[in-house]
Amino acid sequence: MLKEVTATRYITALREGGSLPGLVEADDLGTYVMKFTGAGQGRKTLVAEVVCGELARRLGLRMPRLVTIALDPVLGLGEPDPQVQELLRSSGGTNLGMDFLSGALGYDPLAFPVSPAEAGAVIWFDALVNNVDRSWRNPNLLLRQGDLWLIDHGATLIWHHNWPTVETSAARPYDACDHALASFAPDIAGAAERLAPLVTADLLAEVTAEIPDVWLQDEPGFDTPDDLRRAYARPLLARAAVIADRITGIEESK
Ligand SMILES: Nc1ncnc2c1ncn2[C@@H]1O[C@H](COP(=O)(O)OP(=O)(O)OP(=O)(O)O)[C@@H](O)[C@H]1O
Ligand SMILES: [Mg+2]
Repeated sequence: MLKEVTATRYITALREGGSLPGLVEADDLGTYVMKFTGAGQGRKTLVAEVVCGELARRLGLRMPRLVTIALDPVLGLGEPDPQVQELLRSSGGTNLGMDFLSGALGYDPLAFPVSPAEAGAVIWFDALVNNVDRSWRNPNLLLRQGDLWLIDHGATLIWHHNWPTVETSAARPYDACDHALASFAPDIAGAAERLAPLVTADLLAEVTAEIPDVWLQDEPGFDTPDDLRRAYARPLLARAAVIADRITGIEESK
């Protein structure tokens, strides 16, 4: 299970974020980027963040540590912005937090080239989880002291929005032509050779065990949170074996 902390102070809204993530301080004195259960995108976005973030880190990609943040909605009472007040009021209970990388800048592909090996690893991973939110317009990558960090995995695992069609949906190819790292001659074959064998049933069981039960309850078609955890693992296991050959939009890698 992810470490659990309790929010003690709402600092500010991160205005760039579509889901209005906030910066909060917690009872362990850490500063976290907080994503709210009450945000319009819903709790599946948070599940996707956990599955992809925890998987990325285990594959050796840089990904800030995730925690769960318990929120008492009274924290919102003093907020002057009605939108923030409403978000805090509707997000009592378990929310998602991510270590705040202070001093990190938004990644700009025109200003900072990455190696074919790193570009290949990130694109292979994004193809695996079907991340549609890593384009050059909105890379969702941060740069700190010359290192690239992955953030924002809410728009992935598209199949979890319609479980009855999971098999067809998860068999689809991945179009990387707009990917932020597509122009760096990504070595996708090399990344697949190295990373695909790491994506085992055991690793996926470990990753999905990190999803808080409360975000898995009452999903139609699933009796228990563990059934749903297995449903998250299955398409990833299947995709890991084949996805390298189903990445389109990149000439150099083939
Ligand atoms: N761990 C972090 N450390 C530092 N800054 C961060 C971190 N996570 C997010 N940010 C900043 O907050 C912004 C919004 O975060 P994020 O992209 O995760 O939110 P979002 O609402 O899902 O965004 P969008 O829908 O706009 O892509 C990022 O672009 C980045 O500038
Ligand atoms: Mg984002």
